[in-house]
Amino acid sequence: MRTYYCGELRPEHIGETVTLCGWVDRYRDHGGVTFLDLRDRTGIVQIVSDPQRTPDSYERANDLRNEYVVRVTGRVTQRPEESLNPKVPTGDVEIYADAIELLNAVHKPLPFQVATANSESVREDLRLKYRYLDLRRERMRHNLKLRAEVIKTLRRYLEDQKGFLEVETPILTRSTPEGARDYLVPSRVNPNEWFALPQSPQLFKQILMVSGFDRYYQIARCFRDEDLRADRQPEFTQLDMEMSFLSEEEILQLNEDLICHLFKTVKGIDLPRPFPRLTYAEAMGRYGTDKPDTRFGLELVDVSDIMKDSGFKVFSGAIANGGIVKVLPIPGGNEAISNVRIKPGGDLFKEASEAGAKGIAYIRVRENGEIDTIGAIKDNLTEEQKQELLSRTGAEAGHLLLFGAGAADVVNKTLDRLRQVIGRELGLIDSNKINLLWVTDFPMFEWNADEKRLEPLHHPFTAPNPEDLDDLKTARAQAYDLTYNGLEIGGGSLRIYQRDVQQQVFETIGLSPEEAYNKFGFLLEAFEYGTPPHGGIAYGLDRLVMLLAGEESIRDVIAFPKTQQARCLLTDAPSDVDAKQLKELHVASTYKPKS
Ligand code: AMO
Repeated sequence: MRTYYCGELRPEHIGETVTLCGWVDRYRDHGGVTFLDLRDRTGIVQIVSDPQRTPDSYERANDLRNEYVVRVTGRVTQRPEESLNPKVPTGDVEIYADAIELLNAVHKPLPFQVATANSESVREDLRLKYRYLDLRRERMRHNLKLRAEVIKTLRRYLEDQKGFLEVETPILTRSTPEGARDYLVPSRVNPNEWFALPQSPQLFKQILMVSGFDRYYQIARCFRDEDLRADRQPEFTQLDMEMSFLSEEEILQLNEDLICHLFKTVKGIDLPRPFPRLTYAEAMGRYGTDKPDTRFGLELVDVSDIMKDSGFKVFSGAIANGGIVKVLPIPGGNEAISNVRIKPGGDLFKEASEAGAKGIAYIRVRENGEIDTIGAIKDNLTEEQKQELLSRTGAEAGHLLLFGAGAADVVNKTLDRLRQVIGRELGLIDSNKINLLWVTDFPMFEWNADEKRLEPLHHPFTAPNPEDLDDLKTARAQAYDLTYNGLEIGGGSLRIYQRDVQQQVFETIGLSPEEAYNKFGFLLEAFEYGTPPHGGIAYGLDRLVMLLAGEESIRDVIAFPKTQQARCLLTDAPSDVDAKQLKELHVASTYKPKS
């Protein structure tokens, strides 16, 4: 039987006879001596066989090929000076193989070589189709181990240090109001009725507070049928938490404790505390986004008040129509960024138009405060306006000022994108920095232009700021997000627990009491029976692990992820089902294939 894992062997084991099991990572014949790297989930170790010292295993050793599964028994030996390998932890030793037992061979050509493959050299669809081989690679083994370590650390800390209890909530449930499209499951025994897979355990965790569980957490699987990106999966995992009787401040502190403990335990990093905070309004004002990457400057400046009376119609017109004018000031941008890139056809123009802008106005600042523009801005600014613009934006010789003018959301989105692209290009982002940031005081509602109504930014159970109860439409919510270098890793809020406030919120989003009852009746009823003040948060666990692993896609920290087209290439799901199954489920397809 196995006595050690391959990656465990060290000089202290020299002289021992050991038995190892694993896969042939690679093999080579060197002057009549066969060298094998044997791999298991802990790492690799070198096995040696030759006709003189290990005659019994030599023939077998020569028959082995990459990825064959073997059991090796042999003596741990010091490697000769010239073949020490400091790159692997077992690099001081090698095993003289007394016996090699072939447990299984590889019967088909390998789609890629595990030992030498890397995420860049092998197409991702091939990696996903042969995921079992991909997961044999060191990088993927490392990522999955890190993921397990993160989950273990969170569990231990929340349970042992903070008194949380893990409770599982259902997967077959009613639709939750998280805002994405639901995955639906037809009920066989209740014809024409459907379960929804949970977008989050939101309603159940609030009900657990009504039940008095006080501090709940769960490593919870969530399902959202939305457009996928590198940081989004249709099926993903949250660290989900809910707490009773805590203030917003206490919840944020407890979460800082948790995140600091996690970073310290799995990465040995001491994060500076307290985590910086920005209100939503500040974040939008200074960065144009509610999840700013604060590792670099390039902050935006609102110049609407200067431009409202300018003769440049694009600016004054935008403001007259209720819009804004903002500037992205770029020190050294004059040199670094050419006109071609800003004008139609250029890459920065493309970024801006993808964000909904019609174009980018700009000013180049020359020596002694002279400014240069293409187009009419310069001729339409008074000297006073020009000076105010330069001093407000801190512009000096060599600055490039990029302008966004129009509806606030488009301007912010445009300048946020440009800021990120240019920050990266100018090398302003220190990839070793970890900037965690709380964004607080989100608005309660946002305007849904398609449906012409207000809708909750988070969900309809988010509590408004008590100072803003007079005008709920513009109220701030007691809601907070945690961002990590510009990526949202978690979000939560205090919840409404008073019936009259809940009623007002439903009214504000145009839900009649009947409709509200129809949708969330069970929760509203539960709230009638003694609801404690409560609040919570959920982290995107995949995103957190991705960032800790230094990966750029959450697919690289999920064992069996879906593609951007929401498919599992390993099992080829989703797939056809039998007509009989559909019949039993009372479901008929309306799909008509394109001819
Ligand atoms: P929210 O919708 O903000 O809040 O989700 C919490 C966190 O989950 C992660 N996340 C995702 N990760 C991968 N793929 C996705 N498709 C995806 N969608 C979200 C993000 C996000 O910050 N019930 C509330 C939490 C609460 O109020 O307590 C909720 O689900 O990192």
